[in-house]
Amino acid sequence: MRLCVNIDHVATLRQARGEFEPDPITAALICELAGVDGIVCHLREDRRHINDRDVYLLRELVKTKLDLEMSMDPQIVSIACKVKPDLATLVPERRQELTTEGGLDVVKYFERVKEVVEELHSNKIEVSLFVDPVEEQIEAAAEAGADLIEIHTGFYANTISEEEAKEELEKIRYAAKLGKRLNLGVNAGHGLNYLNIIPLREIREIDEVSIGHSIIAKAVFVGLENAVKEMIRLVKGV
Ligand code: PXP
Repeated sequence: MRLCVNIDHVATLRQARGEFEPDPITAALICELAGVDGIVCHLREDRRHINDRDVYLLRELVKTKLDLEMSMDPQIVSIACKVKPDLATLVPERRQELTTEGGLDVVKYFERVKEVVEELHSNKIEVSLFVDPVEEQIEAAAEAGADLIEIHTGFYANTISEEEAKEELEKIRYAAKLGKRLNLGVNAGHGLNYLNIIPLREIREIDEVSIGHSIIAKAVFVGLENAVKEMIRLVKGV
């Protein structure tokens, strides 16, 4: 299983003062030096954390893989086509939300999703769709031409009892197997931390996880390099 680190929260801290520190670019480079497999950032329509300057600089400097999370807004799609990340992950976006709250409804927005996938493909950008672990959504993702899915693990992460966690884990396992059967790459993310990653890493069909908040939160106390290295050990089970 590979680990990609989402650096949005570093930009959130920078925006708290509206100045220059801490710089998410520096964070990306430290994550790479610590051994991550890729960097993730979300250019939101309201630019609440990552901004245009960040994505262009990240494109220039990230040597592993750049995964740009994005909505299907035409202006954002046009920026993605210029930036040319290695991967574009389409997510739903609502202005008022604190963070992404669920998967993209690929069934409902099928025609628009297909159109955006085609536009990104014509710019040689691989496309992942962030979806809930629901059969119809994954089938629609394959039909829309996506290369990968990212399974939303937020419901799993929010469970309280062990029994509930097991149930959600089984949904993720089923979704991951289905994704593989449909020839899709399978990523997973949202709400993953140093504890709930352990049962999840047993799902062999998951190629990659995308983790942000828990790593940046730990980094405040132990430093980014240590926080990243500890998560790499857990994700890889070494
Ligand atoms: N994957 C997607 C699609 C997301 O929107 C987010 C949050 O930005 C993450 C992964 C990372 O979630 P977290 O910050 O909870 O680790």
